[in-house]
Amino acid sequence: MDAAMKALWEQRKALVETALKEELYKEPPLDAELAEAMEYSLMAGGKRLRPILVMAAADAVGADGTQFLTTGCALEMIHTYSLIHDDLPAMDNDDYRRGKLTNHKVYGAGLATLAGDALLTLAFEVLLRQEHATESTRLAVVREMSMAAGMNGMVGGQAIDLASEGHRIPMELLRKMHMGKTGALFRAAIRSGAILGGASDTQLAALTRYADAFGLAFQITDDILDVVGDEAALGKPIGSDERNHKSTYVTLLSLEKAQALAKSTVDEALDALSGFGDEAAFLRALVQMLIDRNH
Ligand code: IPE
Ligand code: IPE
Ligand code: MG
Ligand code: MG
Ligand code: MG
Repeated sequence: MDAAMKALWEQRKALVETALKEELYKEPPLDAELAEAMEYSLMAGGKRLRPILVMAAADAVGADGTQFLTTGCALEMIHTYSLIHDDLPAMDNDDYRRGKLTNHKVYGAGLATLAGDALLTLAFEVLLRQEHATESTRLAVVREMSMAAGMNGMVGGQAIDLASEGHRIPMELLRKMHMGKTGALFRAAIRSGAILGGASDTQLAALTRYADAFGLAFQITDDILDVVGDEAALGKPIGSDERNHKSTYVTLLSLEKAQALAKSTVDEALDALSGFGDEAAFLRALVQMLIDRNH
């Protein structure tokens, strides 16, 4: 990613950090420890890729993406909740996340579960705070987010992931699992940004194709990094998939084939943007970054 795109990322990331904390404390918390547990994971760092994609998708259709920061924050809350629950002892049982102890290691499994629940519900309240949007656009975004987060999206994918532990699953099911557990939130990010930005039907269809390829390539590289990544850079343990006997693109294919597939999936995402001009430069840079990301 070149310097201008990196600077844009940092600039947008800074906006996300500030807005996340504001949205979390808009109402005084009923329980201080619950709020602390929510803040612990929400403000622990992270690439903030999903809110950045919300904004970049709006930019791509000619809008000012920063107007939709609120929606990006809501999605980051859903994502953070999914990470807290993903790390729980009954799920992947991981001790580190975003370079810090996992939520349940600090607050216990009970409060960590509740912190996740509360971030998920808060996200929907935050979505309704989105300004610069008509009532019907806001509703369309709520629909995108609820479908992406739920049984036919992220949670559905996580259920396939759980059920697949200990045995090899068919390639087609692995793809469905990835599209659910990871792809769905990326799809929601990009489609929501596009809808808020006033995308035409053709633009929305192209960006949805981009999103699906993005999500798949993202999880393939996550599987690769779980094998060959650096824990300090990642901020989470490697070898988690092997320890939990997961089916991944690396175990079902091979490291080399998974890398090749990640690359061709990135090319597909770029192809989906062929009808866009310079407004989609950031989206292009973001998906290209997946190939050489180390965290
Ligand atoms: C990790 O997501 C979980 C997956 C969906 C693979 P990220 O790699 O985007 O995690 P953060 O937000 O940067 O911590
Ligand atoms: C989980 O995938 C993705 C979600 C949290 C929905 P992983 O279990 O591979 O994510 P990491 O590697 O722990 O971040
Ligand atoms: Mg998992
Ligand atoms: Mg995990
Ligand atoms: Mg992983």
